Amino acid sequence: MKATALAPANIAFIKYWGKADPPTGEAGDALRLPLNSSISMNLSACTTTTTVEFSDRYKEDSIESTDGEFLQKEVNRVTKHLDRLRERAQTNQRAKVLTKNSFPKSAGVASSASGFAALTVAGAKALDLALSDNDLTILARLGSGSACRSIPDGFVMWHRGKSSQTSYAYSLYPYDYWDLRDVLVVVEASNKKISTTEGMEKVRTSPFWNRRLRDMPDKIKTMKKALATKNFRLLGEIIEAEAVNMHAVMMTQRPPLFYWNGATMELIRAVQLWRAEGLPVYFTIDAGPNVHLICEVKDEDTVVQKVKNLSVLEQVIVNQPSRGAHVVQNHLF
Ligand code: PMV
Repeated sequence: MKATALAPANIAFIKYWGKADPPTGEAGDALRLPLNSSISMNLSACTTTTTVEFSDRYKEDSIESTDGEFLQKEVNRVTKHLDRLRERAQTNQRAKVLTKNSFPKSAGVASSASGFAALTVAGAKALDLALSDNDLTILARLGSGSACRSIPDGFVMWHRGKSSQTSYAYSLYPYDYWDLRDVLVVVEASNKKISTTEGMEKVRTSPFWNRRLRDMPDKIKTMKKALATKNFRLLGEIIEAEAVNMHAVMMTQRPPLFYWNGATMELIRAVQLWRAEGLPVYFTIDAGPNVHLICEVKDEDTVVQKVKNLSVLEQVIVNQPSRGAHVVQNHLF
């Protein structure tokens, strides 16, 4: 009744911003069906390891991190996710959950994707649930949308779908298909203030969300072509335009959401300058101020060196494409 899983965070090349189903007011109850399909790459250096044990000994669910922290903010969402697992296994047993991130919490890296992917895979294994890979991604999606993309290997597509059963993620290419790098530049260590769940509820207040959706099928087609032909320039151009597009929607919502800070902007300018000087590197940004620099392995050292010469950074985390979530043998307790 005990199992442990390791799951990577992922960086979206085509982003998920906005749900298709009306928000019910409680995060865990929503189906988290996205407005559009999305594409991402799993990150080798930003992982969560989680041990789950179900037992009659436990009177209630507990969730803690290995640094001794009781995750008060997360407990409702995690309990709801454990309920989904319990329902499938027809059990009432409570669980102990212990979780550990490979990256410092202060890095401000969103951990909901790796967190819910690890919880899903460890929980399903602990309860001996016979779930297909597809089913695991569907289950992870109910915990946190982007978590479904952290289950399959390497480069991953989350198919939008029109129902819970048809909104799942699958691998487009394994992790060793293309030796890209994601040089994550942490410019601010604090946690973001507005959650993505909250922020997405207001997506329809932006005058641009409809336009974004209309352009999406073409953008996804071009992204798939860039991946299939390993055309780095095409890939980078879509990644960057897509990040700016999503943030333009965020910034024009009511109330507006500004996840960028001054350092984010400084990095964007630096990337444009480096590119003008001949260095092929492109940026993307999720729901926070930190900047992901996407480059090919041959340019990794140059990019890292250039970043270190800037005054803005707190920390640099270099990621390769990685495997998806999987069971591991060493338990955390
Ligand atoms: O699944 P969530 O609630 O963590 O939302 C993720 C949203 C973005 O990171 C901004 C985009 C994405 O597709 O990962």
